[in-house]
Amino acid sequence: MFPFIRSKKITPDFSFLGTDMHNHFLPGLDDGVKTMEETLTFFKKMKAMGYHQFYCTPHIIEGMYPNTPENINNTLQLVNERVKYEGIEVQVKAAAEYMADHDFEQLLKENRPLLTFGGNYVLIEMSYVAPSSFIDTAIFQLKLKGLQPVLAHPERYGYLHHSFNHYVNYLDRGCLLQLNLLSITGYYGPQIKKIAEKLLREDMISFLGTDIHHQNHLDGLQALGQNTSIMSLLKQKRFLNNTL
Ligand SMILES: [Fe+2]
Repeated sequence: MFPFIRSKKITPDFSFLGTDMHNHFLPGLDDGVKTMEETLTFFKKMKAMGYHQFYCTPHIIEGMYPNTPENINNTLQLVNERVKYEGIEVQVKAAAEYMADHDFEQLLKENRPLLTFGGNYVLIEMSYVAPSSFIDTAIFQLKLKGLQPVLAHPERYGYLHHSFNHYVNYLDRGCLLQLNLLSITGYYGPQIKKIAEKLLREDMISFLGTDIHHQNHLDGLQALGQNTSIMSLLKQKRFLNNTL
């Protein structure tokens, strides 16, 4: 009689990254995690997957999520009090995911302080519908201020897909690229997966982020951690996450 064979479950290990620099774990600030209890659960599960540090990046979007350094830092403080009280051994910090919109243009014009991660990195995003007319100026002005722009999930902007040169141009202008881990799994669709794989193959990605908003995203990340071929490909590459 043959022994009963079960597929072995692997514990996802993202310790080669260590730091997640793009997620929506701060509760109640955007379309991400809603409650403090959920936040703490996410940190415990991420810790078990090898992450030890988080830069939480709530959206700042004109007319939608008018977050400021003040309210983000207030929420961060409350989260850190609970993290400490619960004895969860993770470092939690805050930055933001800035939409390149009119409000962001004003912030830059007025020379207002920006939330950065790892010293001088600024995470920026565009609409999924159409490219931001301000994006080129934003990249230029951030560079002038000595800040390093990082474009969030470039693979997810469908209007860039028709020409790979768009991605090369971002790098040429000094903007780094951050890929969403779930993009490589096909979570957002086959076309996004294809672009994500090409960006990785061409070594054009500086940061990998989870961009976790909710439980489905965490489930997707756990599934990715089980995929030995994708994980070994990622581990062969060099990312800046573990330098933060
Ligand atoms: Fe995000």
